[in-house]
Amino acid sequence: MFDFNIISHASQLWSCTIASLRRGTYKNSCFRSHRFLSSGKKVEKQPYETENIISAEAAIVKDCKIPLEARKVEAKPRLQTVRVYRWNPEKPNVKPYMQQFSVDLNKCGTMVLDVLALIKAEHDPTLSYRKSCREGICGSCSMNINGVNTLACITKVKQSSKPIVVYPLPHSYVIRDLVTDMEQFLKQYQTIEPFLKRTGEDNFLGLRQILQSPKDREKLNGLYECILCGCCTFACPPYWWLGDKFLGPATLLQAYRWIIDSRDMGHKERLSKLRDFYSVYRCHTIFNCTKTCPKGLNPGKAIAQIKRLLAGLTKKERPDMETPLPNPCHGEEEYPCREE
Ligand code: SF4
Ligand code: SF4
Ligand code: FES
Repeated sequence: MFDFNIISHASQLWSCTIASLRRGTYKNSCFRSHRFLSSGKKVEKQPYETENIISAEAAIVKDCKIPLEARKVEAKPRLQTVRVYRWNPEKPNVKPYMQQFSVDLNKCGTMVLDVLALIKAEHDPTLSYRKSCREGICGSCSMNINGVNTLACITKVKQSSKPIVVYPLPHSYVIRDLVTDMEQFLKQYQTIEPFLKRTGEDNFLGLRQILQSPKDREKLNGLYECILCGCCTFACPPYWWLGDKFLGPATLLQAYRWIIDSRDMGHKERLSKLRDFYSVYRCHTIFNCTKTCPKGLNPGKAIAQIKRLLAGLTKKERPDMETPLPNPCHGEEEYPCREE
């Protein structure tokens, strides 16, 4: 079920985690170190390598940004209540529940991910969540914190009398605790073919640079930064109800990114694949996606632009720069005529 031939690196990270969770060999450090268990290798079932996990989390806690001296000076503990969603597939009779922890904020870094690491290191080593880069780049630590879908590693903790409430991404299938099943999300991403399409140029791959003017490159700003965390998609009401047919804001933002790339020649084909009742048009421009995106992107606007292209209200502009093809017979360069 989880052997989906994923294209991108980020996708490989997700699939590794899902597969290893199913095999009972999941380690959070798997994401962090990018070391994966090979799927062909038979691994002895070790539900939790508790000691390794705790030492990895303890190292993170130790490595946190508050200097050691500052921690010693702060003799008075800064206690904060944290409530975390828990569900263990190995105990199917135990319903999901919220577990409460009281953590000392002097002992960890300033982000919610640091608090989760502290809980794992000092309170409960069975807590599961994804993480890798710890700086808002990989998109693996997306979760719902105090009612907002965001990245735990870039969400600051403020000491408060109110608890910090942490859930997995809403309306997603939960694999364990805060780890959600991203299979459908990534399969949808795969359908938009997230790579450059240069019709008829397969024989020339790697032979020359594909040129792009600074003006054309600017059109990708606000799109290429998407890290596929899924925060927007799982905040989108139409995606909650029709997630199997509507592609959702993250995938559509990525689709638009490839459609308007001046180097891409497949925009007509890409648009025709989106021209149906569900893929794009289930978006009702509510802009929950834009509001929640932790990278400050605007998927709602990207979807609106796709709708304009589909309706023929705008057209993809011709690229400022053409890339010559080497002519293998004469050694001369040729400029292929591009249909726009
Ligand atoms: S658009 Fe923003 S919220 Fe959506 S997947 Fe990309 S980075 Fe995450
Ligand atoms: S603008 Fe569209 S994609 Fe974004 S949350 Fe609203 S319905 Fe979903
Ligand atoms: S750990 Fe990479 S985005 Fe949070």
